[in-house]
Amino acid sequence: SLSSKDKQLVKAMWAKAAPKAEEIGHDVLTSVYPQTKTYFSHWPDLSYGSAPVRNHGRKVMGGVAEAVEKIDDLVGGLLTMSELHAFQLRVDPANFKILAHNLLVVLAKTFPVDFTPETHVAMDKFLARVALALSDKYR
Ligand code: HEM
Repeated sequence: SLSSKDKQLVKAMWAKAAPKAEEIGHDVLTSVYPQTKTYFSHWPDLSYGSAPVRNHGRKVMGGVAEAVEKIDDLVGGLLTMSELHAFQLRVDPANFKILAHNLLVVLAKTFPVDFTPETHVAMDKFLARVALALSDKYR
């Protein structure tokens, strides 16, 4: 599980990222693999910089911020979000891993100094556990 050092690094990284959350979320969503666009086919405009993509970037980053707050109990803390993605949205859980990877790439690109190897490992562990918590309701 996440060590207290991991948690400290995740919180510190997120404190840096939070003020830029909208921009980061937008970059994360527009770098997702094209097949994930099928989930958003009901949106009027899926292009780079469109209002729905910006809005959704903000929402997803809000979800990650919530996960940082619930870092000590991700499965319990993200229950509602897991139910939403599993039962209502029916998102294939494989996509959580893609999103986590994209977020790591965007964080590394946006914060080349703060995204140290230690922070990389801590964020990777954290996002893997977020993905697991979001997939919890699929079983
Ligand atoms: C909606 C979080 C991954 C598909 C949402 C919402 C949040 C959220 C907070 C808004 C819920 C609301 O409006 O009440 C997250 C987090 C993720 C994640 C934290 C991973 C770290 C994904 C992935 C997909 C996905 C990988 C699919 C490829 C959707 C869809 C919606 C949604 C389709 C509804 C969009 C709409 O308003 O039409 N997500 N999400 N999510 N999410 Fe996710």
